[in-house]
Amino acid sequence: MSLKIEIIDDFLSIEDLKKLQSLDLGKTPDKQMNVYVKKIDEKNNISGTGMEDDTALKLQQNYHLKAFQLLKQLNPEKAELYEYSEFGITDTGTNYNFPIHNDTPNKLLSGVIFLSPDKSEGTKFYKNKKGEGENSIEWKVNRGVFFSRMENLSWHSFNNGDNGTRRVLIYNLMTYDVKKVCEIENVNHHIVKFKHLVNPYLYRFFKFVI
Ligand SMILES: [Fe+2]
Repeated sequence: MSLKIEIIDDFLSIEDLKKLQSLDLGKTPDKQMNVYVKKIDEKNNISGTGMEDDTALKLQQNYHLKAFQLLKQLNPEKAELYEYSEFGITDTGTNYNFPIHNDTPNKLLSGVIFLSPDKSEGTKFYKNKKGEGENSIEWKVNRGVFFSRMENLSWHSFNNGDNGTRRVLIYNLMTYDVKKVCEIENVNHHIVKFKHLVNPYLYRFFKFVI
């Protein structure tokens, strides 16, 4: 079985694209990454950092149906678990490598939309955690890349070279019901929960994940 990946060019309207490209979130130094996430639920309660609340609300209005359709197509069972959305801006400084990972189980639909600069590094998918069978999705401004994570399938990573700060919009459809996710994926809930609980610490102190 291989992971289904949806690539959608010109995902955002020009207006939304320009707005996110021009957000001033400060400089991101070499070898560092800045992550800002806005969370928005079905009642439009908003929390988090990064873009203005109004911007997140507008993104939710403009793209929720499109994203939800994608999730229904990629994994109809998981679509039923939807509870909230995340709109994140990730600024990655030059010379940065993020390790191969599979995304946390609370992400039902994982999306990335490439924002700036014109030339950068896209997303790389792999057959396994060792990094075999690379499938590199080329960087193109306003290209959206979407998938529905699977514990043993959705291995991916990204990096940045020396073309300046790499900015992407992270667009995830989320749930709190990780137990149900594990049932759908047919994987052990306790093991998965443990892995994703320790991963942020492993990454912070040792720059790797399990
Ligand atoms: Fe990821």
